Amino acid sequence: MKKHFYANFKMNKTFKEIEDYCKNFIQTVKINDKNEIALFVPYVSLKETKHLFKNENILIGAQNVHFADNGAYTGEISAIMLKECETDVVLIGHSERRKFFKETDEDINKKIKQMMKYNVKVVLCIGETRDERQMLKTKQVITNQLKKALNGLYENEFKNIIIAYEPIWAIGTGEVATNKIIEEAINLIREILASLYNSALSNNTPILYGGSVTQENCKSLNKIKNLNGFLIGGASLNPKDFSFIINSCFKE
Ligand code: PGA
Repeated sequence: MKKHFYANFKMNKTFKEIEDYCKNFIQTVKINDKNEIALFVPYVSLKETKHLFKNENILIGAQNVHFADNGAYTGEISAIMLKECETDVVLIGHSERRKFFKETDEDINKKIKQMMKYNVKVVLCIGETRDERQMLKTKQVITNQLKKALNGLYENEFKNIIIAYEPIWAIGTGEVATNKIIEEAINLIREILASLYNSALSNNTPILYGGSVTQENCKSLNKIKNLNGFLIGGASLNPKDFSFIINSCFKE
């Protein structure tokens, strides 16, 4: 399976800044088809960023989508609009969307189904809060989030599903999860996928880790068995740092 290196820019970088980023990034990053690189940029830069990277094997992603086809949803963006911008992949259910915009597991399920209609890849983000971990509820939370988000999805749609395990206490905090915690979460996610579908689907679904991945810790995280890559926020904002992470964990 490919190694995934996904950069979540969040609400950072104007298009001008993305252009500068691109120049630097292309000079330093290694690219081949055993690795998959994606940049999740703000909506307004999707189309231009896609053009900027048109000769490179780099995916361009959106950070959200609305679950309706169209309608009176002021400020929202639909799946067909993302398709028109040539979006390759969409983040769904990021913890910041769940927390600040009150997205529920049911909304997330509808959003995933919406992207499946257009045959666009999604990255489903799941993960527990610190309190939930301390109260020994991690297993229950992950199981619940995963089952609700995937409810009603067909087996053949999993060619477009990637799962990111992002413990909320590790996002943007500098407190990276231990390899043991990540391994346990991945095993649990694979067990659930095998019980909902089958073991081939479970083994073939990419699972990424996100939460304070840096140049310093990426090599150690890269040793985790069964892990297929990283979703990186803060450390992806600097093209040299992001390239360093990719080049250190790159599959030759
Ligand atoms: P972080 O963010 O790398 O800054 O912790 C990860 C994410 O939010 O996807």
